[in-house]
Amino acid sequence: MAANKSRQTTPAARVQRELLPEQSTALLQELHILTRDGQLNADSRRKLKQINHLANLLTPDLERLFADERDPLILDAGAGNGYLGFVLYELWCQPTGRGTVLNLEVRADLVARASERAQTLGYARMVYEQQAVAALVPAEGLDRPPVWHDRPVDAVVALHACDTATDDAIELGIRAGAPVIAVVPCCQAEIARLLAGTAVHAPAGALWRHPIHRREFGANLTNVIRAHVLEAFGYQVTVTELTGWEHSLKNELILARKVQRRNGLALKQLQQLLAGLPYLPMGLLERLLPGPAPLAQDAEPASEPAT
Ligand SMILES: C[S@@+](CC[C@H](N)C(=O)[O-])C[C@H]1O[C@@H](n2cnc3c(N)ncnc32)[C@H](O)[C@@H]1O
Repeated sequence: MAANKSRQTTPAARVQRELLPEQSTALLQELHILTRDGQLNADSRRKLKQINHLANLLTPDLERLFADERDPLILDAGAGNGYLGFVLYELWCQPTGRGTVLNLEVRADLVARASERAQTLGYARMVYEQQAVAALVPAEGLDRPPVWHDRPVDAVVALHACDTATDDAIELGIRAGAPVIAVVPCCQAEIARLLAGTAVHAPAGALWRHPIHRREFGANLTNVIRAHVLEAFGYQVTVTELTGWEHSLKNELILARKVQRRNGLALKQLQQLLAGLPYLPMGLLERLLPGPAPLAQDAEPASEPAT
């Protein structure tokens, strides 16, 4: 019988190669990423690769942040078990004695478990709050930046935050003027839902007429819009794979660094893109770039292949 792949383990000697400089096996054991005898199973290895790669890519930004700010605030949106936050804390907040990792998570059980872990580890500035990401974003206009206990948000990370929680993280980061925003989106349903029934009205409708294409096109379009919105708000954006596709299907990293106040050219490109599509009242667009719909359609129910 074939061995269960996720149970296969990586021997301790090879585990060392997966670690970042300054990263301890003790923390990874506490997080149950490593087993008690210091081994990795296939699932944990995938997770560790994602987290470490992202932590590594963020190194120049965090270096700058810890040099510029006395007490930087790193916000993890949809933190789950907080693996990424714990690793960032160990690498940056612990050695410097500065900085806070604020984790926003809606699930009470995860908040309780991670808070307990933070306490066990003595990570006093690894903070968990049970609330939705959007709750930290003021309802009023763009001029009011989100703050946490009067502190500005310096970096926003969101690793696989579900569907529109990624957009909430992007909005939070943009409105905070955070120098760095890094998101690895998860499942995406909003745009596919908005595209449903519109294919027969749009010149390019064949791209999303079939449900499976609509899901894929919708996910792709979502990330294209996200990247353009970030650019329009003055971020320099890189879109890459986080790790090899064999490690995760949800693998697209959108890494954004604030370089200017606004970018009119990027906004125009976004408007041109949207003008070629049916009216898409995507929450992120509606909240950050409200205005007349570029190409509103009186969509009738259209005949499309069933799911
Ligand atoms: C797929 S998990 C990823 C967790 C973690 N970032 C990781 O990579 O291991 C997504 C998490 O986001 C949380 N979540 C979903 N929507 C959220 C929201 N609007 N605000 C805060 N957390 C949310 C879920 O409860 C879940 O724990």
